[in-house]
Amino acid sequence: MNDQAKKLREIINNLKKKNEIQSNATSSQNITDNDNARVITITSGKGGVGKSNFTINLALALSKLGHKVTILDADLGCANIDVILGIIPKYTLLHVMRREKTLEEVIAKGPEGIRLISGGSGLRELTALTEEQINDLMSNLRSLGENTDFILIDTGAGINHSVLSFIEAASEIILVTTPEPTSITDAYAVLKNIILDDDEKIVRVLVNRVENNEEGVEIFNKLNMASQKFLNMTLQRLGYLYDDQLVSKSVKLQKPFLLSYPNSLVSKGVETIASRLVNESSAEIFEVSGLKRFIHKFVYSYKKSI
Ligand SMILES: Nc1ncnc2c1ncn2[C@@H]1O[C@H](COP(=O)(O)OP(=O)(O)OP(=O)(O)O)[C@@H](O)[C@H]1O
Ligand SMILES: [Mg+2]
Repeated sequence: MNDQAKKLREIINNLKKKNEIQSNATSSQNITDNDNARVITITSGKGGVGKSNFTINLALALSKLGHKVTILDADLGCANIDVILGIIPKYTLLHVMRREKTLEEVIAKGPEGIRLISGGSGLRELTALTEEQINDLMSNLRSLGENTDFILIDTGAGINHSVLSFIEAASEIILVTTPEPTSITDAYAVLKNIILDDDEKIVRVLVNRVENNEEGVEIFNKLNMASQKFLNMTLQRLGYLYDDQLVSKSVKLQKPFLLSYPNSLVSKGVETIASRLVNESSAEIFEVSGLKRFIHKFVYSYKKSI
């Protein structure tokens, strides 16, 4: 275990050095080179608040707007994107790391052209890779970054080091909560763990399962006020989605609600949110986005936390 940690530290240091040299040489151009994918981590404090359903339907809505979207199912505990979509990916990122499969072979094709990558236990093994393997994986993923506008990462719930690394590495976070007090306090606990470093990290809040507009606004304001007062962090209001039994029905059908009930309020709500996300894309976001940058940050952050 110690040996492994030592080896990893060496790899990270080497990568860091390499990165410094590269970024000195080519400044930010190197970080963004054709890699404009917006990497968005979707997370929550409490489990079962609707992250996976939201991620899939958001992906579909973005795709309908003409964007190329890839979902990374990063729930290391029990991945469920595939169940909701009714797709069973044969391989995971782990197969790419072991060079048993190419990235293309691991990507499952979903409806509306969305692509799905199952992290499987592969993400946990990221830190045990040799420098050569990390570089190999990066060049694999770089091609993905060039072919994707949005990478949506659906994490497991709660505060563990893999979730925190996804949060730290992504430049955009969507924190999902429901109006239940336990869900709100757990969302706040996640916020307490978000480190706003020198990057312009954007933290957006989605209030899911509201009964009416006022409830959505009230919950956001509560969270934002506490966050501003005690954490010095201002949150962005992404919006809210109604509590709708069609969500559960579509899960049973294994057909996302945007496809099975396209005219429902909850589908319209997700479409509004997708347009908002697209319209809010600014030069600033692109400067800090990019898959390549994300992976570097993820590996460093994951390493720090183990
Ligand atoms: N807007 C909604 N209206 C009604 N029910 C909803 C809504 N969103 C989610 N649900 C219900 O909550 C259940 C859990 O949703 P989902 O699996 O997306 O949550 P999750 O946050 O990904 O859970 P986990 O933390 O276990 O990964 C769904 O099966 C569905 O029945
Ligand atoms: Mg889930």
